[in-house]
Amino acid sequence: MTPIDPAARANVHLIDHPLVQHKLTLMRKKEASTNSFRRLLGELSSLMAYEVSRDMALQDVVIETPLETMTAKVIDGKKLVFVSILRAGNGILDGVLSVVPGARVGHIGLYRDPNTLQAVEYYFKMPKNMEERDIVVVDPMLATGNSAAAAVTRLKECKPKSIKFLCLLTCPEGINTMYKAHPDVPVYTAAIDRELNSHGYILPGLGDAGDRIFGTQ
Ligand code: URA
Repeated sequence: MTPIDPAARANVHLIDHPLVQHKLTLMRKKEASTNSFRRLLGELSSLMAYEVSRDMALQDVVIETPLETMTAKVIDGKKLVFVSILRAGNGILDGVLSVVPGARVGHIGLYRDPNTLQAVEYYFKMPKNMEERDIVVVDPMLATGNSAAAAVTRLKECKPKSIKFLCLLTCPEGINTMYKAHPDVPVYTAAIDRELNSHGYILPGLGDAGDRIFGTQ
């Protein structure tokens, strides 16, 4: 088993709220239907969005209550971009957007070249003015960490204000790879599983997240 680098572990926010843990357990079960897997992922994603947006900047606005004028706080949701790593990342979007409906959405598609084993980009579409925005990259599984790290490398070319990585499950290998490539990118996850198998699947895990979301298994 691969040990987790202590510095890398310190960069991980483990979201251990009982509701998150409960829903994750239901999703892991092999008998969970596509319908319930997708619904649970949506619910979990919205709960995790609270945690990942905890330090979002607030601004003052002057409003009228029925009784008087006051200065109150609002977030500028439009400054936030959720970037989905295709295709499984799309399963997280509805949940996070239910909490921050004004956020923008970007998509990045990568595949691994079988000869060079390098991540190759096949799709990249981001909102304008990325240098003014905070990014949360979403992908349910941070497994080898290679495509996640490649996605973050590419996103850094857009010079965003900040980048966070939100997943459902990760493992020591994914945490170490991400930290080595991007120590400035905190990882938010609901669980750190034991290990990767030789096919790059997380154990005990939940199987192929994309297949379970889209019913293609
Ligand atoms: N991607 C998945 O969907 N599942 C894993 O276990 C690892 C990567």
